[in-house]
Amino acid sequence: MIDQINALTAEINSLTASDAQTAEALRIKYLGKKGVITALFNEFKELDSDSKRTLGKPLNELKNLAAEKIAELKDAAAQAPDTEVAALDLSRTAAPMPLGTRHPISIVRNEITAIFSRLGFTIAEGPEIEDDWHVFSSLNFAEDHPARDMQDTFFISRGPDVLLRTHTSSVQTRVMEHTQPPIRIICPGRVYRNEAISARAHCFFHQVEALYVDTDVSFADLRQTLMYFATEMFGPDTRIRLRPSYFPFTEPSAEMDISCNLCGGKGCSFCKHTGWVEILGCGMVDPNVLEACGIDSHKYSGFALGMGVERITNLKYQVKDLRMFSENDKRFLEEFTSAR
Ligand code: DAH
Repeated sequence: MIDQINALTAEINSLTASDAQTAEALRIKYLGKKGVITALFNEFKELDSDSKRTLGKPLNELKNLAAEKIAELKDAAAQAPDTEVAALDLSRTAAPMPLGTRHPISIVRNEITAIFSRLGFTIAEGPEIEDDWHVFSSLNFAEDHPARDMQDTFFISRGPDVLLRTHTSSVQTRVMEHTQPPIRIICPGRVYRNEAISARAHCFFHQVEALYVDTDVSFADLRQTLMYFATEMFGPDTRIRLRPSYFPFTEPSAEMDISCNLCGGKGCSFCKHTGWVEILGCGMVDPNVLEACGIDSHKYSGFALGMGVERITNLKYQVKDLRMFSENDKRFLEEFTSAR
């Protein structure tokens, strides 16, 4: 046994532990219930009294040495700095975090709503899944209007009709049903049409609708609002022109062109050499629409306008293919990193 005690003494003197966990494992190895030194004590109990006399002291010394050494190792481990933390250079500047980019449609939609909010318009939203009343009937669409056809509209169910809205004009009805004038709202949102997908058409796209209803709202107010919007959006030299048009929900109705922002109105392939590009539809809210929504058309009048966000985005950024807006190609999206 004395040889074992001497060997263990040497072994314990040379123990090291890099952390508290290792030190604890050593305690268990030597001093635990099934530890090496504990086992020696058990053997010791069986010895004759002579042997006990000679071995008792060295065995006790071995136990004390092990207890001291391991306590020392634990202390040292507790004081040593965590090597991982010590390796960190806390004075270094943080690694640059790649920022996401805003989708071009969001950039332009935000710009449109910001321009109208400067004129006092507030944002209103409505559901994309709609009924016939909000999308067509309340807006003065005739029973046999082609837009109600399966070819143009995605129906979810028929009779009563549940459908994907084909325009954001439905939000006009949603607001007017519950609010009396003055109403000054801007309604951005996604719309759906049953179109074959190509570079120039898609089955979903985005619109922004504006509606202003109050006493004495006139076509001059509409024109001034359009002028303000066009110059804010496309620059101070932008000219506008209104062409008579037809929409069921406005009377009179017009389409607005702006002077081509690529060639400044001189004529280029983008504007098909006319110098003008169409950007939105507008008009004075038809009295039938006001009445359908519970607004007295003798007391109040209003104007409405609606535009496609993809169209405005194309004009600003010359995106040639509509499909790029929904493909989520990072190379395309990252081109808008520095855009507002
Ligand atoms: N809703 C029309 C469309 O989807 C756009 C439109 C035209 C909206 C004239 C209007 C408006 O508010 O007055 O094409």
